[in-house]
Amino acid sequence: MKKIFLKTFGCQMNLRDSEFVMGLLLDKGFRKADSIEAADVVIFNSCSVRKHAEERLFSNIGDLAGLKKNRPGLIIGLMGCTAQSYKDQALERAPLLDFVCGTGNESDLPKLISDILKDGCRIVAADKINAKKIEVLPAYRTGAFKSFVSIGEGCDNFCSYCIVPYVRGRERSRDARDIIREVEDLARRGFKEITLLGQNVNSYSGGFAKLLGKLNSIKGIERIRFMTSHPKDASIELFKAMRDLDKVCEHLHLPLQSGSDRILKLMNRKYTREKYLKLVEGYREILPGGSLTTDIIAGFPSETEKDFKDTVKVMEEARFDSAFTFKYSARPPAKASRLKDNVSDAIKEKRLKTIIDLQCRISEENNRALAGRTVEVLVDGHGSKDPRKLTGRTRTNKVVVFNGSADFIGKIVNVRIGSVTSYALRGRIV
Ligand code: 5AD
Ligand code: SF4
Repeated sequence: MKKIFLKTFGCQMNLRDSEFVMGLLLDKGFRKADSIEAADVVIFNSCSVRKHAEERLFSNIGDLAGLKKNRPGLIIGLMGCTAQSYKDQALERAPLLDFVCGTGNESDLPKLISDILKDGCRIVAADKINAKKIEVLPAYRTGAFKSFVSIGEGCDNFCSYCIVPYVRGRERSRDARDIIREVEDLARRGFKEITLLGQNVNSYSGGFAKLLGKLNSIKGIERIRFMTSHPKDASIELFKAMRDLDKVCEHLHLPLQSGSDRILKLMNRKYTREKYLKLVEGYREILPGGSLTTDIIAGFPSETEKDFKDTVKVMEEARFDSAFTFKYSARPPAKASRLKDNVSDAIKEKRLKTIIDLQCRISEENNRALAGRTVEVLVDGHGSKDPRKLTGRTRTNKVVVFNGSADFIGKIVNVRIGSVTSYALRGRIV
């Protein structure tokens, strides 16, 4: 049987899609290759959110030139956001590609690959951007106790910098019954933690808090996470559900993007800094021990020093536990790509460094407040730096490092925190 190697770039959504596609292929009799060299089919699941991600992707594909020359039968394919964005043009930009499979065509991938194996043709299938996934999903998962569960696809918000609505189509929510069935199946198989995924979970069609309530009663599941929340839709009702539902973890990812009202308007984010900070205040009141993380873009077109200072001020007030920070990157056809990208790279770089340093300081201060406390940790595995150590996550999604045997992996333990850094807590099992 033919062997598949799937390399994934980008976000959790892509990781889950890769798992879905691998599941489909395994169900059809394909097998998993352990390396690119051992594969008959290499698939890249791609990300288009920033230009840099795209460039890295195409250079990765180009790296296979030698392999393909030695083994002309090797099939190389592209799926995910860049596949949807480039369609047939991907074949021109990357002549090594045998197929391009758009974000809505993933269910057809096994057939597509079989057709290429039979006929040796090149195929572009990117015509179903708004398709819904099949209802009965393959059981395959990469993890054993933690898993992503998609609750919807696409996005209708059209933030002006963002390519996602153009490559993932209109927002469509998955049927609650299918989601519940999937989570029940995971629980039966011993999964303890699920992370619900959607571009904007708070606009889930049947009501997100209601969905959380239903999932909270599934026996065996111990932790429920979710991302991402758009500040225009996150609500006090959600925070109360997080407080009242015992399995829903006290962590909120609430992308700020900018702290300047003028830039927020240009970004089409539909909230002001004041509204954002009010939301944060509500969150802190209802979930005093909860963690808060965010995304911030530095150097959006026309961002002045004053706009940037407004972002810094919001960061100081909101006191995020961590932040993903990005330099603005123009992404046609997103609307902002028509604005002049007039903040120089040097200034973008400088602003980025300022917010990274600031966040580092705040993260460490927030973490320091946990020293001496005992926290509940789901153990992920061995440390990447020191394999004698174990690492895991708190309910608030903070990384914890501690001593312990491999038997603890996949279990929930209590850890007393000793020292902290800006990105991790150290402690001992109690
Ligand atoms: N440039 C820089 N960052 C971007 N993001 C999305 N689009 C862009 C872009 N064009 C960031 C946002 C989003 C995160 C997933 O990626 O902060 O929340
Ligand atoms: Fe992009 Fe905005 Fe949709 Fe997030 S909410 S995927 S940033 S358009």
